[in-house]
Amino acid sequence: MLTASDRAIVKATVPLLESGGETLTTHFYKKMLDEYPQVRPLFNPAHQASGDQPRALANGLLMYARHIDELEQLGGLLTKIINKHVALQILPEHYPIVGRCLLSAIREVLGDAVATEEVLQAWGRAYQQLADVLIGAEHAIYEEKAQAPGGWRGTREFTLAAKVAESSEITSFYLRPADGGQLLDFAPGQYIGVQLQIADEDVRRNYSLSAVAGNNQYRISVKREPRGKVSNYLHDHLQVGDSLHLFPPSGEFTLTASDKPLVLISGGVGITPTLAMLEAALTTSRPVHFIHCARNGSVHAFRDWVGGLAVRYPQLKRFYCYAEDDGVSPAADALGLLDQSRLEHWLPEERNVDAYFLGPKAFMKVIKRQLKIAGVPEKQSRYEFFGPACELE
Ligand SMILES: Cc1cc2nc3c(=O)[nH]c(=O)nc-3n(C[C@H](O)[C@H](O)[C@H](O)COP(=O)(O)OP(=O)(O)OC[C@H]3O[C@@H](n4cnc5c(N)ncnc54)[C@H](O)[C@@H]3O)c2cc1C
Ligand code: HEM
Repeated sequence: MLTASDRAIVKATVPLLESGGETLTTHFYKKMLDEYPQVRPLFNPAHQASGDQPRALANGLLMYARHIDELEQLGGLLTKIINKHVALQILPEHYPIVGRCLLSAIREVLGDAVATEEVLQAWGRAYQQLADVLIGAEHAIYEEKAQAPGGWRGTREFTLAAKVAESSEITSFYLRPADGGQLLDFAPGQYIGVQLQIADEDVRRNYSLSAVAGNNQYRISVKREPRGKVSNYLHDHLQVGDSLHLFPPSGEFTLTASDKPLVLISGGVGITPTLAMLEAALTTSRPVHFIHCARNGSVHAFRDWVGGLAVRYPQLKRFYCYAEDDGVSPAADALGLLDQSRLEHWLPEERNVDAYFLGPKAFMKVIKRQLKIAGVPEKQSRYEFFGPACELE
């Protein structure tokens, strides 16, 4: 239990976290990944190298310190962390490692004059309080997923049933449980965790489920990343009949039932969760505007599939914008970057819509601003990151 004095001490460190939070968390990760090799497979080295994960943790700690008296303000942030942890199978035994390394990093980065015994003890108790909240919530989700029909705990073996090229750089993987058993349902927009051994190294990645549940299989659609470890392995080495291990679906970027028109906007491989959302929305009569941006026609995945749906479902309108014309693919509805007037033209006239968007960060920053200018209520404009979350302002 945190005392009033603990809370005051933690709050007093807010300015330090504002100015030096990222230095602290960068040092923390380096230390933890050096000293505790057992947690290395959990983390994506690219997110360390880009600084995205140290930034996300620094923001998490800052928000926690700021709102230590009103933890209910952290709801959305904690839900995101919990879902990410669940999809990568973070367990209670991992928390003391993080706690120890975080306190050491505080001492080493801030120095003895600032990181006094009092400050370290207050942060130690504050960390434990937050860890207890996360461990409790994660435990509840692990239990729920283990008990649900078709659910499981930890990893489950899947077999690759089919592999389908969707564009020059995106391929779909159809995955069936190797035990032939029932498969846990999921909400459109959720993602799974994949665990693989590549060259004797244990690696984990998240992939959105790109089709609604059905036929006792999951589908993921993966873009080949230049020099990317897992995506290239999946594209080049995983063959039909091979097995891989999955953690159960998780994620809070999910389609909410509503009568409002639905607007789905994606850039590149960000299309994947919007496909499952589109499929689910078309089982209702709500209007759907599906807007997709791609570099050009050759990298545009699922064009024929969405086109087929637009023929069958009159409530679906689809619009495509290509940055460039590759000279061979069917034309897009617009060329260049998606600008304000084009977006407004493609949105429903009534702006009381539910919008979901995903794509590269620069793209998402633009879309967030454009939707606001267009008059879409901010609370109805939702987004997800294919990596640690960041500010889109
Ligand atoms: C919720 C969620 C859903 C996702 N859904 C999808 C999806 O549906 N489809 C999809 O394709 N992806 C999705 N992703 C992204 C996916 O998880 C992987 O990040 C992506 O496939 C790249 O992984 P990789 O192993 O191929 O590349 P990585 O090996 O992680 O490398 C990524 C890039 O970083 C560079 N890099 C790697 N290590 C370093 C280093 N140490 N220093 C400098 N640069 C480095 C690589 O050269 C490469 O360009 C999702 C991510 C999340 C979090
Ligand atoms: C109180 C303790 C913790 C806090 C506040 C915290 C916070 C966070 C935050 C903010 C993110 C980014 C979420 C996102 O934007 O997607 C994250 C992701 C993650 N966390 Fe934690 N975390 C804690 C404990 C742990 C522990 C104990 C582990 C395991 C050792 C862990 C492993 C991870 C991993 C693997 C990711 C994804 C990293 C990636 O994408 O490379 N976390 N956590």
